[in-house]
This record gives sequence, structure tokens and C-alpha cells, in this order.
Amino acid sequence: MPPLASKEKVLEENRRVHALENRHYLSRHPEQTNFFQKSILEKTLNAVCQTLKPEAKILDLGCGTGYLSLGFLSRGYCLTGLDLSQEMIAAFEDSLPVKLKPQAELIVGDVEEFLSQNQDEFEVVVLSAILHHLFDYEAVLRMICARLTSGQKLLVFFEPLKQDVQSPFRFALHRALSWLDEKLYRSEMKRRNIPVLDDEYHHSDYQRQFGGIDPNRVHTILKAEGLEIVKTEKYCARRFGIHAWLANRILRTQNTFNLLAMRP
Ligand SMILES: C[S@@+](CC[C@H](N)C(=O)[O-])C[C@H]1O[C@@H](n2cnc3c(N)ncnc32)[C@H](O)[C@@H]1O
Repeated sequence: MPPLASKEKVLEENRRVHALENRHYLSRHPEQTNFFQKSILEKTLNAVCQTLKPEAKILDLGCGTGYLSLGFLSRGYCLTGLDLSQEMIAAFEDSLPVKLKPQAELIVGDVEEFLSQNQDEFEVVVLSAILHHLFDYEAVLRMICARLTSGQKLLVFFEPLKQDVQSPFRFALHRALSWLDEKLYRSEMKRRNIPVLDDEYHHSDYQRQFGGIDPNRVHTILKAEGLEIVKTEKYCARRFGIHAWLANRILRTQNTFNLLAMRP
């Protein structure tokens, strides 16, 4: 399929949309903060940190307002957070507790540019909910793989999954739950006076136009680059934790994935 926008357009739209998101980002995205997702985040962080030395350095690409970065910082690690959006970085900086500030280096910039210019060593590279915003996510994955040395890890977290519909009945229930989830979310946002950015994500969520990110494609790229897949987790994220619980425990549907890989 031909590209639906140029690389420059995708960058420009990401800057524009995330300038609007900034301080409201996590309030507008309760699917990242509800009890169901929080427990997945905690388990993931514990699994990644289990084998890390205290002096390990983390690189969070597309760190946004620090959703995942904070988990590493509060566990005592030094972290470099990079984001295209000055406003998202400013919101992260403002919310960072004073005692964690010396551990954090926050940079405004584009991921590809950063990876081609920066030569620092990082034990873990994190990509949380950023791949679907990139014009060429495959190139970024390859650039990351090229810099990982033995024992170093890549964590891909909270990416929209290209869905494989096997049961039309289950998919209909999945859609019905999604409809209810969105309806309640919108009234909650209205009650809290937080504007929903309905039509803003078209080009910024570039890869969603192709159905999201295919974990099998990610596997193929990482394996071809010599990485070992440690774990892949597929599940269903929802705005409300109770809906995520129902989707995962009863419907067993999937729309999101996390993946941990390492250089053997
Ligand atoms: C959905 S947000 C996720 C933020 C954070 N990682 C999290 O999980 O909450 C995506 C972030 O990627 C950033 N981003 C998009 N394109 C980027 C690029 N080319 N280089 C660096 N950051 C980018 C956006 O500015 C935004 O903050």
C-alpha cells in the first residue's frame, strides 16, 4: 500500500497533537492508568528490572509525560527520556518529583535522528505506545537492534495490535464492549471538562491506518537482527479497568501487545 502521508507530515502531526495532549495526556488515556493496565505495567517493570544492575541506564524513546519512565526512575535507575513534543517533555519535567530529577535526562527530538547521532550505552531501550506513531517503525526497530550488545534489552509496550478476527461472534461482543467503554469514557471526560481530541489522531497515529502493529512482523525483524524474543503478551486494553477485566477474562479478545527481547 502506498504511504498515506509523508514522513514530515507524520512528524508535524505528532508535534501538533501532542502539544494538545500534554498535561491532560494521562487523564485522557485512562486505558494506561486503570487497575488492569497498572498491574500489567508493574509486572512488566519487575520482570525487566529483575536482572538489571543498579547502575543500569534506561532509554525511553517517545517517553511522553513519563508513564513508563517513572517506574524505572522510582526503582532507582538513571533514565534518558526522548520525545518529539516539547509540551509532553515539559509536562513530564513538571510532574517529576524533585528527588528523582538528578536521575533523569529529558531531551526533545525525533527518535531516528537521536538514534543516528547518540552513541551512549543503554541496558534497556523502551518503546511505549510510540511505534504506531512512526512513519517507518521497522527502520527504528532495526536502528535499536544495531546498538544493543549482549544482555541488553528492548521493551515494546502498549502497542495497538493488528487484530486477527477468528470468531465473528466473539468479535461482535468485543465491538459491543468497546462501544460501551467509549460511551462511558466520553461522558466521564465531559463531566471532568477534558476535551476529547476526536479527529486529531488521523496522521499522528499513522500505523493505525494499516490496522496497528503486527507482533509477528516485529518478531521477524528482531530475529533477523539477531535478537531473542523473551516474552510476548497479547491482551485487550480498555478505558475502564472493569471492561479490560471482562474483555480478558470472559471474551478473551486482544487489541494490544507487549514484547521483551534481548541480544543473547
Ligand atoms: C501515545 S504517546 C506515549 C507516551 C509514553 N511513552 C506513554 O506510554 O505514555 C506517544 C509519544 O510518542 C511521541 N512521538 C511521536 N513520534 C515521535 C518521534 N518521531 N520521535 C520521538 N517521539 C515521538 C509523541 O510526542 C508522544 O509523546
